[in-house]
Amino acid sequence: MDTVRDLNALRESVAAFRAAGQRVALVPTMGALHAGHVALIEAAKRPGTKVVASIFVNPTQFGPNEDLSRYPRREMADIRMLNEAGCDLLWLPSVETMYPDGFATTVHVSGVSDGFDGASRPGHFDGVATVVSKLFNQVEPVAAYFGEKDYQQLAVIRRFVADLDFAIDIVGVPTQRDDDGLAMSSRNIYLDDEQRKQAVALPRALGVAARAIAKGEDVESVLDDARTTLVGAGFTIDYVALADAETLAENPAVDRPRRLLAAARMGATRLIDNIAIEL
Ligand code: PAF
Repeated sequence: MDTVRDLNALRESVAAFRAAGQRVALVPTMGALHAGHVALIEAAKRPGTKVVASIFVNPTQFGPNEDLSRYPRREMADIRMLNEAGCDLLWLPSVETMYPDGFATTVHVSGVSDGFDGASRPGHFDGVATVVSKLFNQVEPVAAYFGEKDYQQLAVIRRFVADLDFAIDIVGVPTQRDDDGLAMSSRNIYLDDEQRKQAVALPRALGVAARAIAKGEDVESVLDDARTTLVGAGFTIDYVALADAETLAENPAVDRPRRLLAAARMGATRLIDNIAIEL
């Protein structure tokens, strides 16, 4: 796997893939890679496809009091993992390459960005939509792969790709989980042993709630029960909510695909998870 840090070198490498008749798929990441990212690379690998991964810890998607400075950075380990996963090219831009002096453009996606993480983390999805738009224009992939764990992010990306006519197939890859069910996340390393044990309450509470909602039980009382369970396990809740799986509007119709979404803090660590409601 080659690593490129310069935009011209990236464009030359990607042009060479295309000239050889290969399609190009992109897996955008912020590094600190784990099995969830490997699943994205695996999903992207297809005959006739070259897989480009990017690693860029995007400062514009972190709020002033968030973990940008302590976000895990493990370049050598990440490169090894991408190599082993069969990635073809790594795009490793600097902050100056992505946001040169005078940079003044923001991609803002209304509606789907507004609630949940968008409400708790103002500006977060503007940062995501802007950097992902740039990555799309830099790499010009035919397909891009994102984890369903960041479900609202996936919905935001699908929205702007449709609205701005990016000819890119956006593929959502199911959340990868540890054996006990906790969704894999680069932030799980912030949990101490006791918090890690308690954190499994999040996927368990969502699973119980999703089954109850699918059976037709009263949504508000099911959500309240899930909140009570999470507080009992030591979480501070940000939100536990049922939303339309596409628009993320709350109070979705029962005949629409629906998604149960949650964010909660275990100590200082904010965890998110989500689950589909079976139709
Ligand atoms: O999910 C992530 O790792 C990031 O939000 C992304 C999509 C790479 C944009 O910085």
